[in-house]
Amino acid sequence: MLRLDRWLVTLGVGSRSEVQRLVKRGAVRVNDAVVRDPASQVDERAAALMVNGQPLDGRLTRHVMLHKPAGLLTAARDRKQPTVMDLLPEVYRAIGCMPVGRLDKDTTGLLLLTTDGELNHRLLSPGRHVDKTYLAQVDGPLEARHVEAFAAGLSLSDFTAQPATLVIVGPQTGRVTIHEGKFHQIKRMFSAVGREVTKLHRETFGSLTLDPSLPEGAWRELTDAELAALYQDAQMEVPHE
Ligand code: URA
Repeated sequence: MLRLDRWLVTLGVGSRSEVQRLVKRGAVRVNDAVVRDPASQVDERAAALMVNGQPLDGRLTRHVMLHKPAGLLTAARDRKQPTVMDLLPEVYRAIGCMPVGRLDKDTTGLLLLTTDGELNHRLLSPGRHVDKTYLAQVDGPLEARHVEAFAAGLSLSDFTAQPATLVIVGPQTGRVTIHEGKFHQIKRMFSAVGREVTKLHRETFGSLTLDPSLPEGAWRELTDAELAALYQDAQMEVPHE
């Protein structure tokens, strides 16, 4: 339960005083009844909300699969550059939906965003790192020695990358699965074996696979099955909505 005015502010409907005025004017309906007291307690998980005659999705918990295009920063906000949040309706930022981990600006593919801070934290925490698969194009031929070097674990300047799986899928294309997620990890691993990544695309994150029906820049919310599998990756119970 929470106060009606606080709910509306969190959803980005307006400032505290603006939403209080709206409510007092009779512009807000909860479960089909006009509510004129901004301090009314409402069950935000069960109530259907209408503002100015329009239904408003009042969920404060959301989980998004985004097909990240190149050219956007993975960040909740940035003063100068566009971010992945610019692809979502404003309400997602207002309710605190955040990217889980980072893809480089020029990397495309699967990016998960969630309002669940604990889920976000657990999916990234060392020790519980979930597998991620990337398709990488590189600037020269890939050979068995590269596969072996990835499998052995690569010593980089500041850390040793855990053994990773590299499958050669084309003369200059490899599919890599890693269990960690250090800064520029894939690019640095290829660089350590003498290949520069020219294109990088994430296909999976834990049990999530990028939906092939999502073109670059498109997104959708996770299905119940995807959500259940993801919470299992994080060794958490799915919270009751
Ligand atoms: N590794 C990288 O080098 N870049 C990414 O965006 C993700 C993994």
